[in-house]
Amino acid sequence: MGSDTLERSAAYWNKQAADEERWSAPVDADTIARARAGDWSIVLTPEKAVPRAWFPSDLKHVQLLALAGSGGQQAPVLAAAGAPVTVFDLSEGQLGKDRLVAEREGLDLRLEQGDMADLSRFADASFDLVVNPCSVCFVADVEPVWREVARVLRPGGRFMTGFINPLFFLFDHDTPGADRLQARFALPYDSTSPELRERAQALGVDEFSHSIDALMGGQMRAGLRLIDLYEDNWPGADLAIDALTPLYIATLAEKPL
Ligand SMILES: C[S@@+](CC[C@H](N)C(=O)[O-])C[C@H]1O[C@@H](n2cnc3c(N)ncnc32)[C@H](O)[C@@H]1O
Repeated sequence: MGSDTLERSAAYWNKQAADEERWSAPVDADTIARARAGDWSIVLTPEKAVPRAWFPSDLKHVQLLALAGSGGQQAPVLAAAGAPVTVFDLSEGQLGKDRLVAEREGLDLRLEQGDMADLSRFADASFDLVVNPCSVCFVADVEPVWREVARVLRPGGRFMTGFINPLFFLFDHDTPGADRLQARFALPYDSTSPELRERAQALGVDEFSHSIDALMGGQMRAGLRLIDLYEDNWPGADLAIDALTPLYIATLAEKPL
């Protein structure tokens, strides 16, 4: 991936963290206390909690990687629920939110900064569970990410990820009025293409729709077996299309024994 895309993504997420936006607002002490008592949930998409059946019944000793998963939300909850958690993220600001919750609550979180397409600092088969909240829309090529996930998972380990339905990127959601549901962009959407560069500059971050082929077929080609999925909406975002169809997908995959 171009270093320009990485730099812009890091700067954008540092700003999101500084402003404590939706994906960067750290969980409160009560959420951590409840997680310690066994009452916890996380999201990979905007609203729906990940089914508990997707997780092992007991998280103790489950080596867990929260991939592109910082912001002080999922990782501290999973650590309070008992898992040894490594948080890996591009943005120092986002990682700072996890550091803040870990220090405030006395949680042991390992924080690592980097690009999710390169997990070379982790040995093969070093995690039992990889949890990836919605983030691959920020990388130009998703298949290297899936290959790295498959490599660092132990056989029998699980991978759960949230992503945006690529059809979302057909539309210009920022245009007010009825026109905003007219298909405007061809897929796959790549904001680094010359015709979209100006739009990406205004947003401050590069975005890539990918295809269902890459998002789901890619996981299978990386050696993972898909075993479940669900769809989700984001009513809070006030998008016209959200009333017509779910826009988010979460999948569960397993690395075969
Ligand atoms: C929507 S947030 C996900 C975390 C959030 N707590 C949540 O609930 O969804 C997307 C995350 O992806 C991270 N990110 C973006 N590009 C990345 C990359 N190339 N490698 C690793 N992390 C990346 C961002 O810093 C941000 O923390």
